[in-house]
Formats: sequence, structure tokens, C-alpha cells
Amino acid sequence: MNDTVADHYGGDRKLTEVIAERLQRAGKSLSTVTTSDLAAVDEFHIRGRKATLELARTMQLGPESRVLDIGSGLGGPARTVAEETGCHVTGVDLTPAFCDAATSLSEWVGLNHIVAFQQGDATELPFADNEFDAAMTIHVAMNIAAKDRMYAEAQRVLKPGAVFAVYDVLQGEGGDVLFPVPWAREPSISHLETGDEMQALLTTAGFEVRGIHDSTDESQAWFEKMAAGIATSGPPPVTFDTFLGADFPAMVKNQVRNLSDRRIRTMTFVCTA
Ligand SMILES: C[S@@+](CC[C@H](N)C(=O)[O-])C[C@H]1O[C@@H](n2cnc3c(N)ncnc32)[C@H](O)[C@@H]1O
Repeated sequence: MNDTVADHYGGDRKLTEVIAERLQRAGKSLSTVTTSDLAAVDEFHIRGRKATLELARTMQLGPESRVLDIGSGLGGPARTVAEETGCHVTGVDLTPAFCDAATSLSEWVGLNHIVAFQQGDATELPFADNEFDAAMTIHVAMNIAAKDRMYAEAQRVLKPGAVFAVYDVLQGEGGDVLFPVPWAREPSISHLETGDEMQALLTTAGFEVRGIHDSTDESQAWFEKMAAGIATSGPPPVTFDTFLGADFPAMVKNQVRNLSDRRIRTMTFVCTA
């Protein structure tokens, strides 16, 4: 199952070269590229960099903080949080091609002294007990059936009282998800819970859920804008089609329906370990 998930995201190990080539074609130089320039490809979740900045604020971080990003993808959220707050972020992700790209992109923007990435499974984290001051996870749990193990692991590696910020795609009340979507081309690697189920899972793992925010309306507007842009001028020069391939426009179209029908919802849970 894990191999299928990693293949879905990163079958092409030449991802860094492809992103570099596309950036250069779009007139960007790798020596001056910024985290904000990379956001359209490396903030791989609904509402992009804005959503990451919201999570950063909930974690109350400073230069002394050691933060874990579970399912760090290409490392956009880790770099944004580290750059904004000066903290150190360790990213862990199942997909080897994403971990390699995350390291290269961090070198381009000069942040590799405060971010680091390693391959690993969220349900079996390669870290010691009580190692981190805070953790975040953005759009990852929808690929993980064993969410009880994922959240138990997050609880284990966090210090008591640490903030755990979870921003995810949830099952809505409007019916079954229309595939393909960015996290799965078919249902076998898609595992959505409802908001109530997610809250129960987090509580059972020992977290106190202190705040819940439903951003579905904003997510719908975000995907509608992207779909309109694709309809008039095709995908932007550097975006998720770099690794999702030719299915990307169909995924965007389905996400507009999934969100407007409330087949899915996007929600943030701010918890304390
Ligand atoms: C939609 S991407 C989000 C990436 C990143 N959090 C972001 O917002 O830019 C989902 C990520 O979850 C990772 N993932 C899926 N299952 C995982 C698991 N069991 N352990 C660690 N990472 C996993 C995938 O490899 C992928 O990078």
C-alpha cells in the first residue's frame, strides 16, 4: 500500500530537474528564487501558502523551536514556517522523490541550515520520544488508513503540552469522492474520515483538541479560481502537474465538484499533546 502511495506522488525521480527547467522557462533564476516563487509547486495543499501561514501562527514558534512536519512533500510548508519564525523544521515523507526534491529546493532558497528532510512513514516515525516542540501535518492523513497509529506516533514524539496542527481533507456529507483527485487516482489509497471521526481519533491518541476551523468555502473558491485559469490558459508554468502529470486538469475539475457538493471538506484541528 505504501509503495502505491509513493508511486502516485513521485514515480519520476527527476523531479528537481523538471522543476528547475520549468522555473527557468518561466524566467526565474535558481540563484534568486524565493519561497514565495516556489509556492505554486511546493505548497501542495488546498489554499497553498496562506494556509501554511495560518498554521504557523497557531504553533507560536521561535528560533529555539524544533518542529516536525509529518508528510512534508516537496518541503514548501517546512520552508515557509522556518523562514517566517526562524525555527528548525524536520520534514518526514514516504515518497523518496519528494524528500530529494525538498532538499534541493531548500538549497536553492538558502534555507538548508534550518530545514532537513528524511524519508519515513508517519505511522512509524524515525524519531525519539518527546523530541519536538511542535508538529504540523497538511493534507497527508487522507492517504493513511491507520490514522490511530499516525496520531499515536505524533503524540509520542511531541513534548507534553506541544502544539499539533492538523490541516486535512475530510469526508463531507455530499456523497462519495469523484476520482481522480490530487491524493489518489482511485479509491484504494484514499482514506477520508468525517470531522467528528477525526476529532475522536485525535482525542483517543491523547490530544486535547483546542480549536477546529472549517475552511471549505474558501477551498472551493481557491479551486474554482484555479479551474477558471486552466480553462482559459492551461495549467500555470510551474505547478502540481510537474508530478501529477496529465491528469492534473481532471483532478482540479473534480475538486471543484467535490467541494461544491460537499463530498469533501477542509478542516484544521489545533491540538495540544
Ligand atoms: C498532498 S501531499 C502534501 C505534502 C505537504 N504536506 C504539503 O502540504 O505541501 C501528501 C504527502 O503525504 C505523503 N504521505 C502519504 N502517506 C504517508 C505516510 N504514510 N507517511 C509519510 N508521508 C506520507 C506523500 O508522500 C505526500 O508527500
